[in-house]
Amino acid sequence: MSLSHLARFPRLEFIGAPTPLSYLPRLSDYLKREIYIKRDDVTPLAMGGNKLRKLEFLAADALREGADTLVTAGAIQSNHVRQTAAVAAKLGLHCVALLENPIGTQAENYLTNGNRLLLDLFNVQVEMLDALDAPDAQLAEAATRLEAQGFRPYVVPTGGSNALGALGYVECAQEIARQCEGALAPAAVLVASGSAGTHAGLAVGLEHLMPDVELVGVTVSRSVAQQQPKVAALQQQVAAALTIKAQAPVVLWDDYFAPGYGMPNEAGTQAVKLLAELEGILLDPVYTGKAMAGLIDGAISGRFRSDGPLIFVHTGGAPALFAYHPYV
Ligand SMILES: Cc1ncc(COP(=O)(O)O)c(C=O)c1O
Repeated sequence: MSLSHLARFPRLEFIGAPTPLSYLPRLSDYLKREIYIKRDDVTPLAMGGNKLRKLEFLAADALREGADTLVTAGAIQSNHVRQTAAVAAKLGLHCVALLENPIGTQAENYLTNGNRLLLDLFNVQVEMLDALDAPDAQLAEAATRLEAQGFRPYVVPTGGSNALGALGYVECAQEIARQCEGALAPAAVLVASGSAGTHAGLAVGLEHLMPDVELVGVTVSRSVAQQQPKVAALQQQVAAALTIKAQAPVVLWDDYFAPGYGMPNEAGTQAVKLLAELEGILLDPVYTGKAMAGLIDGAISGRFRSDGPLIFVHTGGAPALFAYHPYV
């Protein structure tokens, strides 16, 4: 089976070249296991991150529809909103962001620094919500309001996670497969699983290109029982868009996100510190620190299905380090 339908979807070229897949020698020594990292934290716009892959497809769709405004939603420290805002700026589009404070903090850095500071540079129109508890409806309502004001809005779903956006991570799976070909036979790929588009796109791509590789999603906000249907539904939608089948089981670990979304924990904070000290690589307190805590624990406790090299997909997020200083 092939992923040939992927090329049929209009796409803007924001990334241009594969992101590096690099060996981490000092972390590998530390864990006594070969660890590689897929550097999607260095995608080339506005401090990088995973959303740019989704936005290649979503922004192409927005332009096709004749939109003049991107409207999206997330936490005050959303990396997704920051990257959407940067894409809007790059394309000369207006950007409206519905933001919530999911951890109810009044810490100055959380409210004004990190990703939030960057939104002002991109000239985003920010609207604060008490809670982003029905994001699709809240975004639709914002779009209706913007239309009444004469704008032509395009709704980018939270996290960029619909089937179209998730195609970006089918593309990432293709890059990983090409980069591994003849050079590396990974046992597992591990990624943070939030709004689920990254996980679902990788699941579809890897099932077809590297069927023996275990894909592990480390949840950042939900239990396995809550996250599993989200990932599985999106996995099926992505496969349908590509007219292929997806049968791979969704593997999720939910032991690393407590006490909740956007709230740092000890293991995650230690993972952030470890990667900085051993490899000079910056993780973040909300997503990749917790995912890396999962990789470290999984490697030490023998939790992966088989032995062999591991690939960590670094999805970005380091701008939030400044927002969480000192850790709230
Ligand atoms: C740094 C980072 N990593 C991982 C994720 C999770 O990706 P997804 O929402 O596609 O599950 C996000 C989402 O916002 C993110 O900002």
